[in-house]
Amino acid sequence: MGQTRRKRPSVNDIDLARWREYEEIETDSLWLIPERDRSGEHIGDYHGNFVPQIPRQAMLRYTKHGDVVLDGFLGSGTTLIECRRMGRHGIGVELKPDLADSARERIEVEENLHGYPTTVITGDTCDGADVVPKIETALEAISRDTVQLVILHPPYHSIIRFSDLPNDLSNAPDTGDFLVRFGQTVDNTARFLESGRYLVLVIGDMYVAKQWVPLGFYCMQEVMSRGFTLKSIVVKDMRNNRAKRQLENIWRYRALAGGFYIFKHEYVVFFEKRI
Ligand SMILES: C[S@@+](CC[C@H](N)C(=O)[O-])C[C@H]1O[C@@H](n2cnc3c(N)ncnc32)[C@H](O)[C@@H]1O
Repeated sequence: MGQTRRKRPSVNDIDLARWREYEEIETDSLWLIPERDRSGEHIGDYHGNFVPQIPRQAMLRYTKHGDVVLDGFLGSGTTLIECRRMGRHGIGVELKPDLADSARERIEVEENLHGYPTTVITGDTCDGADVVPKIETALEAISRDTVQLVILHPPYHSIIRFSDLPNDLSNAPDTGDFLVRFGQTVDNTARFLESGRYLVLVIGDMYVAKQWVPLGFYCMQEVMSRGFTLKSIVVKDMRNNRAKRQLENIWRYRALAGGFYIFKHEYVVFFEKRI
């Protein structure tokens, strides 16, 4: 007698009988997003933010209506604005108190179409003693104890210095220290992730002392070493990055002179928690 395989519960609201209708949903590993979504409160004025289409795509594939999304590096609040549009509960952690306050205000202005609350936590995602009880309290307030999607968009180490705070990941003294602390952020957020659900990492590589540092791959390794299953590495085109565009010619000259290629991509990496 053959074993009957138990069907895994769905992690999204996609009706596969209507699969042709989901034109918006990406299924390729190369994302060429022609333009940032600037609608509503997606103003895009925070240097180092991601395009709203990234959390949107992740939520379309890996969450259902009413699920809880936890963003460990909230920045200007992009993920929670998208939660309000898509009918997901959202919890976001940001280290800088002034930025957390302005994100909170901005998110509140965005119409909450489905009525699910969003919570901005001011805290240090690397520090379990600080952030874990704060996330627990936010979950208790919505009568939940787990989340169904974790999004991590950390600083790409020192590429952008986000603040002078010593616990800011962009101030980690070296790559080794950055990775240890990044690993702590995985532990402190993924502990809330329901089994069978997804963690999304948005990260890029960097150059240090004329060498390409594959930060993205190192971070992927940190997640995999915790027993997560790597499901997809998406390469996202960054050619429309405003800062890069303005410096186009300088970088072209430097690349020709220095024998390297200019970064035009970042990674959106999807992991499943099967543990
Ligand atoms: C790449 S940005 C995230 C941008 C965000 N996705 C957006 O769209 O605005 C990284 C953010 O992590 C914050 N950060 C750095 N270290 C942190 C830490 N230890 N805990 C929490 N947030 C931290 C920075 O202040 C910065 O706003």
